Amino acid sequence: MADIKPKPRYTPGVVKEEDIIRIKDNKGNVKEMMEVEGMVVPCGMIRSGHIPDIRENVKKIRDMKCRDDDMFLCSFMRSGTHWVWEITNMLTTGKLEYLTRPKESAMMEIHYPEEFDEMPSRRILNTHFPLRLLPTDVKEKKLKVILLQRNPKDVTVSSYHFLQKSKQMLFKGSFEDFFMMFIKSGVMVSWFDYTLEAEKAVKDKELDIHLVYYEELKKNPVPTIKRLSDFLGTNCDDAYITEVAKMCSFKGMKKANEDVKDTEKYNFEKDIMKSHYRKGEIGDWKNMMTVAQNEQFDELFADKMKDSSFKFDFSK
Ligand code: A3P
Repeated sequence: MADIKPKPRYTPGVVKEEDIIRIKDNKGNVKEMMEVEGMVVPCGMIRSGHIPDIRENVKKIRDMKCRDDDMFLCSFMRSGTHWVWEITNMLTTGKLEYLTRPKESAMMEIHYPEEFDEMPSRRILNTHFPLRLLPTDVKEKKLKVILLQRNPKDVTVSSYHFLQKSKQMLFKGSFEDFFMMFIKSGVMVSWFDYTLEAEKAVKDKELDIHLVYYEELKKNPVPTIKRLSDFLGTNCDDAYITEVAKMCSFKGMKKANEDVKDTEKYNFEKDIMKSHYRKGEIGDWKNMMTVAQNEQFDELFADKMKDSSFKFDFSK
């Protein structure tokens, strides 16, 4: 499959001077950002024309008419979304086949909702937007929401590696710079804010949410997928689920990404798609974070998450 440079598909957005927030890193590089619905978004994302204008799209997503069997996979970036999306597709289609369509083709923030009209049911839409930005139909129709969580140290390291490759959200600094930025403000939204908001949604029971932990899926794939299947009502038996777990192992998915996914048809760059499958391990943060960074993270985590009952697993 030839590599392609994705073509801009949307009208590039214009950011007014008064809306620009200029952030300088310690090397003097200036990043232009703007605030949209409580998220801090790189202006480049709005100006590029590669994704819809996020200011317009948050409104369109909120008003989107959902189907009664739509499902929503919600996660902070780099939490294993590709993995759970592929598993969920295998559970709902009842077919042990990788989809040719990449996860990005069902990602809400990079398409306008009407682009999903042709997608066959059951649609599994995914997003890194905070849960408050889901369509209002999700609450009204009590649609199924899968909330995927991963320990934030691995999310930090995985995000750093990914953003060095991502053209629209490029991060040029060192890991040290990234670490400071990540613990302060995250990417578009702070991991802590995202997670605490999601936990509140779980506790309030206003949405029909099933929580999946990356680490649990990695350590005990079959029972974790079984619980997901039960939540979705897909009634898959243990033999089928064992096959799903095998096919969706890191190795299996990395290979499928190269051999099966039709990046050209869906207008995605192969190099970026490749970088979604890096290591797929628990505890890789230990290879990047210094002792001091780790202590700083632990202190912040203990403070921010003091009232949280979410349990994160940081080790293999
Ligand atoms: P690493 O960078 O730590 O390797 P997302 O899909 O939300 O963007 O998350 C990407 C992360 O999930 C990457 O983490 C990637 O390697 C990991 N991942 C993808 N498929 C996986 C699988 N089948 N098993 C374990 N981890 C997987």
